[in-house]
Order: sequence, then structure tokens, then C-alpha cells
Amino acid sequence: MAPKRADAKEIENLRDEIRRHNHRYYVLGDPLISDAEYDRMFRRLVELENRHPDLVTSDSPTQKVGAEPQTGFRVITRETPMLSLENAMDEAEFVEWRERLIREIGEAGGRDYVCEPKVDGVAVEVIYRDGVLVQGATRGDGTSGEDITVNIKTVRPIPLRLRGKKPPAYLNIRGEIFMGKKDFDRLNKQQSELGEKVYANPRNLTAGSLKQLDSRVTASRPLKFAVYGLGGIEPAGQVSSQWEFLVAAKDWGLPAGLYAKRCPGSEEVVSYYTELLENRENLPFEIDGVVIKLNDFGHQHEAGNRARSPRWAVAWKFPAQQERTRILGIDIQVGRTGALTPVARLEPVPVGGVVVSNATLHNEDEIEKKGILIGDWVFIRRAGDVIPEVVSPIPELRVGKEKRFKMPRTCPVCGTPAVREEGEAVTRCPNLECEAQVKERIRHFASRDALDIEGMGEKLVAQLVDAGLAKNPADLFELTAGDLEPLERMAEKSAENVIRAIEESKTTTLTRFIFALGVRNVGITVAEILAERYSTIDALRDATEEELAGLYGVGPVIAREVVRFFGDIHNRATLDRLIRSGLRYETAETDRTEQLAGETFVFTGTLTRMTREEAEAEVKRRGAKATRSVSSKTTIVVAGEKAGSKLAKAQKLGIRVMDEDQFLELIKS
Ligand code: IVH
Repeated sequence: MAPKRADAKEIENLRDEIRRHNHRYYVLGDPLISDAEYDRMFRRLVELENRHPDLVTSDSPTQKVGAEPQTGFRVITRETPMLSLENAMDEAEFVEWRERLIREIGEAGGRDYVCEPKVDGVAVEVIYRDGVLVQGATRGDGTSGEDITVNIKTVRPIPLRLRGKKPPAYLNIRGEIFMGKKDFDRLNKQQSELGEKVYANPRNLTAGSLKQLDSRVTASRPLKFAVYGLGGIEPAGQVSSQWEFLVAAKDWGLPAGLYAKRCPGSEEVVSYYTELLENRENLPFEIDGVVIKLNDFGHQHEAGNRARSPRWAVAWKFPAQQERTRILGIDIQVGRTGALTPVARLEPVPVGGVVVSNATLHNEDEIEKKGILIGDWVFIRRAGDVIPEVVSPIPELRVGKEKRFKMPRTCPVCGTPAVREEGEAVTRCPNLECEAQVKERIRHFASRDALDIEGMGEKLVAQLVDAGLAKNPADLFELTAGDLEPLERMAEKSAENVIRAIEESKTTTLTRFIFALGVRNVGITVAEILAERYSTIDALRDATEEELAGLYGVGPVIAREVVRFFGDIHNRATLDRLIRSGLRYETAETDRTEQLAGETFVFTGTLTRMTREEAEAEVKRRGAKATRSVSSKTTIVVAGEKAGSKLAKAQKLGIRVMDEDQFLELIKS
């Protein structure tokens, strides 16, 4: 074993390096190394710290993985309360706010504003002493909040230590913790695919993540942070305006001032608002308006505060994205894991450009809590991109014929008595052989992100199960064209095509394979993380719960499910059968090259030979980055058919552009 001194030195170096890369990745959004390289460094540090527990410090980057569960949160009180904001619902109300400010403090109230997006998340306060994070707390009622330091520490973009040689002796900042739309959609899609609770919006999921008594759960959630306010600083007087504060915060390594703009007058504020509203859909996170603040701290002080909100700031809200419709009935869907999910059948209505005719009601507690009746007029909204959701009923429109919903006592498909375990919101059909579950499992196994068996959709799966030809995903691999031909609408030719597609699907990737198994809570993202960490299915099978729980993006809940899945003898038997039938996978590690390291791709327009997701995966495997918007960091834009504004922007910025053929050529070479 290396002498302790050498290890201590290596620990220090690793920490510095990891901090530097954290900042590049989470704050600047411009990583220098691949995720795999980062993981290697991180794992090495964990290994060394395990070897020398006395060398672990509270500001080590490893301390971002969470700690032992707590029993509750301590209440803290603060001297400078965290205020709320007054709302302006339209331009007239914004103008009114501004005129009042001018009346109160004169001309100065009419110019020099800082405009920021109003991020829809959860407000927190973070305190640094001599540059080290010492406390994180919720807003609570403004004056007193809950001490959630352990959870705050796991949020990746919040540095445990400020950058720079001489950070302030005391720094109190306020900001919003939130979750990006894509991360939210992914987590929620995972939840719904697995028949688990889905969240109404990123804010609810963020709030839930921060309230965890087990900080390892928080650590597994991809939370982001946006700094927007100064709560106190010592020595005082280092910054004298909101704009100066945002700039200083960035220098300290904090994520601050993203999309913020200094506006000299009301005209500029109006165009900032209009522009952001138009771009709302394209932003990577949800915003519900624009916050306008008087820039100069002196002027802010002159304007002063009301009890709960400052006079020097206003939140100009965006119009809501909700629609009204009626619940025609409530159906029960049986998911792959047996979860019985109530789904509202709606009078079809367009929401944000998509016609919605079904919306999830999650579970019976949700229906009860929201007070929803069958026949009710309701507000619905699309949560992210995936599942439309019923927000609330409109009791004023009831006619007296509405009916209460009751969860069925038995599975509507197989008739087995349903069970609801204590502490769980989900009612399940416990019969693993329930036809609905069997069909869903097989459909999942064959689905696009899983083994991607062409032609194996809902209909064919149902036919196979109904005919007794498949009870289990492994049965698919034993089918012959002769088995399929007798099925309705299945000619000789199409039967052969299906068999060929099944055969082709046997060569897959470890990520797809893991995902296809259908472990509860393991969506495609988690599958990817697992495939990167474990290079074979056997290694994953042997992983301990503790080890899994420590992986970023995994956490204790998923860890338990993974271990439970591989511990089950039926699952193990299926796995063995799959491998024996010739299932082969490439591993994430052997797959990776550095061929395109340093490049940042944007794909735009329609690609004809692969989906955008596949193209992105191809470049990532070759060490490049793929993003969705063109910026000065983009190095190559691949323009498919009907490419539009992104292509134009790339040409304007002089970025290398290629068509699909050239791209295919490039990745082949
Ligand atoms: S400033 C004293 N700026 O909105 C000023 N708040 O509705 C207090 N929020 O509690 C807040 N983005 O959680 C401010 N750029 C931003 C914000 C922002 C989101 C939240 C914050 C606040 C709530 C008020």
C-alpha cells in the first residue's frame, strides 16, 4: 500500500481536479473531459478516502453523494427574511408598478433594471463562511425555514467551496433549486413506464427531492440551481448593485445570471419579456414569468420592503398553460409492474398544440386529495412533454350527476384481488401471470429503447399472449415462422420478417438489455448509468445494494429494486434463457472511442436514416458532445431535411455544416 503521505497528496490533487471539472460541467456547461474519465477520477477519490477515513473533509467532492438518513429537519431563523414577490399579470400592471416606484423614489425608479427569468422551482438560502458551504435552508415562512444542509450539499451545481483566493468571510445567497425539463421528463417517463407515481411538474419533484430525510435520494436527483439574490455579505460593501452581485457570484463559481439582462428602461423590459415568452418552449427549464429588479442597491434601499415583498422588484407572470375540459369516465390501466393506474377519459381538447384525450390521475389518493369526480369539468395541463395531467376540478360547474370514483377491489384484467401495501399509494395486481402484466412486460422488452424489435407492437404481443405462444420475454427468442403464420393478419412473408427482426434484436447493447428487463424504477437513463458502471450483466447481478445506492443517478430506492430483481429466481431463469438463446451485447466501455473528442454537435431538421437520439448516441460514443441549440460552442451542425433556424444560425456563426451523408461518412471513418 502506498504510504499515507502519498495518498494524501493524491487526494488533494484529485479534489482540485474534480472541483475544476464540476465547475466546467455544472456552472459553465462546458465540460473538458468525458463522463467516463470523470467517473474514474471520482471513484479513485472514493477509494482513497475509504482507505483513509480520517482524511475525509466535509468539503470533499465525494460528500455530494448524501449521508445517513436523518430523523427530521432543524428549524433555523434568519435576520434578513427571504421575501416573496408582488405579481404583475399583464403589461398594464407592470407599468403601474413602475409608475408607483417613480412616484416613491423619483426618476431613479424608472431606469436601470435587471431582468431575470422567474425560474419555477424551490427557493433556498445557502451560507458560506470563508468560502466553505456551512448551511442550506428552505424559505419556510420567510423568517424561519428548515435546515436542509445535507440535502443542499448533494446538489451538483452548488459548490461546497467557493472559487478564488479570497472569498468573502460571510456570504448569504438566495436562489432557486429546480429541475430541467428533459431531466424531469425522463424521470417522469421512467416512473410512468414502471407504473409508479408521476409528478405534476418539475417544481413538485424538486420540492419532494429536497424534503427527503435520506439525502442519498436527493443526491440521485438531477437538481440544478440558479442564484438570484444576496442575503448578506461580510465585509460589507463589496457589491453595490444586483448586476455587480451576479457577476461576482459567477466569479465565486456559483451558477448566476443565466439569461439575465440589464435593461435601461421600460421599453427594454417589455422586449425582454416578449422575447423570453416567445422562447419559453425552447428553454431547458420551466419559467413562469420574468422578475424585474431595480439594479442599484442604494435605490432598492430607498424604495424599501413591504411585509412580505420588496417594492423594488416585481414578477411579471406569463399566461398559464392550462385548459378546461370534462372527465367522461375513469379507466384503469394495468402496468407492467401490476400497478393499477386510474386514467381520465376526457373530452378531447388541445393543450399547448397537442390534442389531449386521456390524462393520468396517478392513484386513488390523488383523486381524493384533488376532490375529482367522474363527470367533472377540470383543468388539465401537460406535465413536461409526456403525460397530461388533471390539475383540479371546477366545482362551480357541477350539475349534481357527478360520481365518486372507487378503486376496483380486483384487477380489471385477471380478477385477482388487488393489494395496496402499507405506506404505498399504488394499488397493484399481485398476479405476476396477469395477462395485462405479461403483455406489458413483453411489449416493454420489444419497445424502441429496449430491444427494438420491429413489428412487435401492442397488437402482435396481445395476439402472441392470447394464443399462449409467449408468457415471458425469453419465449420470443424461441418463436418460429410456423408459430406465427396461423395468427390473424399474418402472412408467410410478415411472419418471416418478424422472426428476422427478433433475430436481429439479439445483438444489442448492455444499456438496452438492462432497460429491457423491466426492473421497477429502472428507465433508460438509469440503465445507461448501470451499463457504464458494470460492464457485464453478471457484474450487475452481483452488485450490492450499498454500492448501487452510491451511484450518481441511482439512489437507495432503485438500488433496492435492482437487487430484488436479480435475487428473484424466475428473473434469473429468464436471464439465463435469454443469454442461452444467443442474446449478445456490446458494453458501454468497449464501445467508446475518442474519435470525435472535442467536437460539439447539433442535429437539426429531419434525418432519414436514424433518429436524432440515435445520431446523438453515435457521436457521444465517439467522445463528442451533442446539444440541442446552436451556440459559439457548437463545432459541427448536421442539417437534415427541412433544417431551419438552427442551420441559419450556424451559417451566421461560421460553424461547420454537413448533411446526413457526410455525417455517416464521418462516423464510419
Ligand atoms: S427575487 C427579494 N428572482 O419567485 C426578492 N425570485 O414569487 C425575492 N424566483 O420566492 C425573490 N426566480 O422563489 C427572485 N430571478 C428571481 C426568481 C425568483 C424565481 C422565485 C423565488 C421567490 C418567488 C416569488
